[in-house]
Amino acid sequence: MRAATDYVEDVAPGSGTLPPRAWYASSDAASLSLNGSWRFRLSPTADAEDDAFAGPGFDAGHWARISVPGHWVLQGHGAPAYTNHLYPFPVDPPRVPTENPTGDHLRLFDLPSDWPSDGGAVLRFDGVESCARVWLNGTDLGEFKGSRLPHEFAVGHLLRPEGNVLAVRVHQWSAGSYLEDQDQWWLPGIFRDVTLLHRPAGCALDFFVHASYDHTAGAGTLKVDSDVAGRVTVPALGIDVPTGASVTVPVEPWTAETPRLYDGVLATEGERVPLRIGFRTVVVEDGLIEVNGRAILFKGVNRHEWHPEQGRALDRETMREDVLLMKRHNINAVRTSHYPPHPAFLDLCDELGLWVIDECDLETHGFVEQSWRDNPVDDERWTPALLDRAARMVERDKNHPSVVVWSLGNEAGTGRGLTAMAEWIHGRDSSRLVHYEGDRDCRDTDMYSRMYAVHEEVDRIGRGLDGGPLKRRRLPFVLCEYGHAMGNGPGGLADYQRLFETHDRVQGGFVWEWIDHGVKDERHGFAYGGDFGEELHDGNFVCDGLLFPDRTPSPGLVEYKKVIEPVRFEARPPAPAEYGAGPGTVRIRNAHDFLDLTALAFEWSYQVDGETVASGGLPVPRAAPGESVEVKLPEPPGTRDGETQWTVRALLASDTAWAPKGHPVAWAQFPVSARPPLRVARGAAPARGDGRITLGPGSFDARTGALLSIGAVEVTGPPRLDVWRAPTDNDDGATWQSDVRYGLLWRTLGLQRMRHRLDSVETGEDALTVRTRVAPAGRELGLATVYRWTSDGERLRLTVSVGPQGEWTVPLPRLGIRFGLSGAADRVRWFGGGPGEAYPDTRSASRLGRWESTVDGLQTPYVRPQENGARADVRWAEIGGLRIEGDPEFWLSGRRWTNEHLDAARHLTDLIPGDTVWVNLDHAQHGIGSQSCGPGPLPRYFLWAAPAEFSFVFSETAERA
Ligand code: GAL
Repeated sequence: MRAATDYVEDVAPGSGTLPPRAWYASSDAASLSLNGSWRFRLSPTADAEDDAFAGPGFDAGHWARISVPGHWVLQGHGAPAYTNHLYPFPVDPPRVPTENPTGDHLRLFDLPSDWPSDGGAVLRFDGVESCARVWLNGTDLGEFKGSRLPHEFAVGHLLRPEGNVLAVRVHQWSAGSYLEDQDQWWLPGIFRDVTLLHRPAGCALDFFVHASYDHTAGAGTLKVDSDVAGRVTVPALGIDVPTGASVTVPVEPWTAETPRLYDGVLATEGERVPLRIGFRTVVVEDGLIEVNGRAILFKGVNRHEWHPEQGRALDRETMREDVLLMKRHNINAVRTSHYPPHPAFLDLCDELGLWVIDECDLETHGFVEQSWRDNPVDDERWTPALLDRAARMVERDKNHPSVVVWSLGNEAGTGRGLTAMAEWIHGRDSSRLVHYEGDRDCRDTDMYSRMYAVHEEVDRIGRGLDGGPLKRRRLPFVLCEYGHAMGNGPGGLADYQRLFETHDRVQGGFVWEWIDHGVKDERHGFAYGGDFGEELHDGNFVCDGLLFPDRTPSPGLVEYKKVIEPVRFEARPPAPAEYGAGPGTVRIRNAHDFLDLTALAFEWSYQVDGETVASGGLPVPRAAPGESVEVKLPEPPGTRDGETQWTVRALLASDTAWAPKGHPVAWAQFPVSARPPLRVARGAAPARGDGRITLGPGSFDARTGALLSIGAVEVTGPPRLDVWRAPTDNDDGATWQSDVRYGLLWRTLGLQRMRHRLDSVETGEDALTVRTRVAPAGRELGLATVYRWTSDGERLRLTVSVGPQGEWTVPLPRLGIRFGLSGAADRVRWFGGGPGEAYPDTRSASRLGRWESTVDGLQTPYVRPQENGARADVRWAEIGGLRIEGDPEFWLSGRRWTNEHLDAARHLTDLIPGDTVWVNLDHAQHGIGSQSCGPGPLPRYFLWAAPAEFSFVFSETAERA
C-alpha cells in the first residue's frame, strides 16, 4: 500500500507542477507576494501529523510564527547541521531516516481587491529545501523536490477573493537530499519567495531570447521564440518584429566589462513582459573560450548564497552588495556554486557585468565513501530527476546574458545521468557552453575543468603536456575552484595568476569561495560545524571565504583584487640598476578583455620615507585591451635623501554603476633610492650593579640577561626567540592531503613548547651577550640563539644570531623575537607594508607606506582564530613608547594575547585580552599556501631552519603611547 508520505522517498522529481519556463516579472499582470509571517508547526517525522491542517477552517492560532523566506532551523526550531561531503544520514538511497523534521507552514491570504477575475493564476515557489507538498484551499496540488529551483502550480481555479488557505508541508530529508550533498549547512525551509502570479488570457508562457553578436560586423541578431506569439520591440534599436522573427542591427555588445543591456518588451495579447537584452556570442574556437570574438580570462569566485542570520534566504540588498563587492575587487566572474542562485542575483550580474557559470543543483559527493557505488547519476531510475533539474535551471535562466556557461553540478562522480543532462542542455541551448568538473575526459563538456590542481600541473596543462583524450587536449582549461580561502590565506594566488596570463589555454579560475558560512551566534560570535552538537560535522571547513560572515573583506580578498587587477605597471628600466636611478618610464599594460583604458584616470605620487611629498596626474594614451603603452614619469621631485619611491595608480575616471569616480582599480610601486643604512648603535659599555646590568637606555637582569626596561618603558616580557605561530587552517592542511602537513609536524615536534636554556650572560667592553639554546622537550634538535646587545648611549641594538642544531626536517613557522609591553600600549605606527596583513605568498597587496592602527586593529578576525595580522617589510614601528628599527626590515605583529592563547582559541569569543601587549618582530615567516584544500606553499616560500642573523634598534619615542 502506498503511504501518504511515499513521495518523500520517491526518486521522481515531483508531481502536479507545471513545466519549467523562463522566470520573469510581468509589466502588467498582477502578482501577490506571499512572503511574510506564516504559521508553523514542526514534527519529528514525515507522517506525524495528518493533512487536516491543509483543510478549511483549521485553527492554527496556537502555532508558532515563522518568516518566509527562511529556514526554520535558524528561527529557533531545531538546529542547523554542517557536513562537507558526508550524508548526515545512513546511505541507503532513496531511503531517508524516520526522524525527518517536517515543517507545516500555513498562510491565509485574501486577493487584493483589484485582482482580475479573468484568466488563471500560478503559485510559484523559488526555493524550498528539500521536499514540499502543497495544498491550496484543501486541494492537494502535488509535491516537488529540487531545493534551489523554481516550482509552479496552476491554481487559478482554486482561488477565492478571501480566506485562501495555503498549506505547505516541508520535509528536511527526501530522495532529493541524495542529490543535494553540497558542502554547506543543511537548512530546511521555504527559503526563497512564494508568489502568486496572475496569468491573464493570452499571457506569455515561456520565451527564449536569442541575442547574438557578430564582432566582425558589429551587429546583433535578435530572435525571441515564444510559446505564445506576440511582438518584440526594442525602442533604442528601432526593433519591432513578431516573435520568432530574426532581426540584425548594429548594436553595442554585452560583456562583463561593458554590460550593455537594451530594454525591450515582449507583448502578447494578454501581457507585456520587460526584456533586458544583452547581445553576445560565446563559442569555443581554436581551443579557446571566446566571447564576441575575443578570448576571455575568468577572474572568478565561487559564490554560495550566505547570510550569517538568514542562511540562504538572501534579500535583494545582500545580493547587490555581493555583486558590488565583486566588481570593486576586480572580480569578473562567478560560479554559482553549487546551485542556481536566486534569480535576482542573475539580474544584477546582467546589469553590473559578471560572467556567470550557472550550476545545477546537483551533488552526490557522499557516494565517494563507497567508491561511488550506487551513485544516482549512474542509475537510470534517477535520470528523470536529473533532467528535471537541468531543465528547471536552463529554462529559468536562459534569458540572462551574463550566463555564459551551464554547469551540470558539482562532485557527483560520473555517469549516464550526467551525459543525459549534457545532451539535453546542448540540444536546448547551443549558445552556451557546458561545464562539469568531474568529467576528466570531457566526454560531455566544452571545457576542461579541474579544482585545486597544483601550480606545476596547471603549467603543464597550459603547455598542453597533460595528455588525456584528444577531445580534452583541444579544449580550453579553467580551474573551477582554486585558492582555498579558509582562514589565513589563500597563498600562491599571484603565482597562479602568472600561469593564467602566460598560457592562452588556461582561461583563469574561480577562487573557493566567496564568503564564510559562519552562523551568527550568541555564544561564539560566529558558529561553525560542531557548534550545534551535530554528530557528524566538518568543523570550520564551512568558513573558507574571501569575506567574513558579516561581509567584511578578508585580507584574501584584498590580495585577490591586487593579483587580478586589469592594469599592469612595469618600471622601465625594470629595476634600478643601481639605487638612485629609478625608473624613467612606466609601461602600462591594459589587461582588460574588452575595455580600453579611457575609463581610468592615472596618477603618480612620490614618497620619501613613506611620506608622499608630491603627486600629480599621469596622462595615459588610449590602449586597446591587451596593448601596452609607455608613459614618462616626471623628474623625481625634491630630495632624494632617505628612501624614495614612485607609486602609480589607476582610478575610475567617472562614476560607474558599481563604484564612484576615484575608486582605485590598480597600482604599483617602484623604488628609486634605497633605505639608508641604520646608524650603528655601539660604544656604550655595559655596567653591572644592584642585580642589574645597564647598557645605554637598557636595563637587564644581571643573572638572566633579560631585558627589563628601555628608558622609562617597562618591558613586561623580555625579548626572546619565537618560532611558533598558531597554525593556520592551511598549515594544518586537510586530512586527505597526501603531502606533508607541516602544521601537524610542528606540533608533534613541540615547536609550541620550546624551552629556553640560559648558557651564559657575558658583559664585554661594548656589548652584553646572552647565549641560549632553544629546543623542545623530547628532541635533540634545537636552535643555538645568541642575543647581543650594544648601545650608543641612547639607542639599544639587539642582534640575534640563530644556529640550527640537529637535524631539522621541517621548516620553521616563523623566526623572530617576541616581547611584552604594558597593556596600555595601543597606538601602533609603522613604515612598511600595509595597511593590511601579509605573508610571504600573500603579500601582493601590501603597499609600502606610513600606517597607523590600534593593537586591536592589527588583528584579522578569522572565524577560527589562528596566526594573523603580520605587516611585511617594516622599516620601523612605534608602539608603547618604543621605536623599533629593523636591520633588515621585519614582519610586525602585536596582540593582547599570546600566540599560545591564539592557538588554543576555537572561536573569536575565546580571545580574552590580557594586561600585556605581545609584540612579534619576525625576521622571516613560512608561507601560507592553500593546503586546507589545495597545494601547500611553493618551495620558494619555505622558511627552512638555517643560520640567520638579524637586528633591531630600540629607542624611546618622544611621545609615550
Ligand atoms: C570542493 C567542493 C566545494 C568545497 C571545497 C572545499 O571539493 O567542490 O564544494 O567543498 O572543495 O571547501
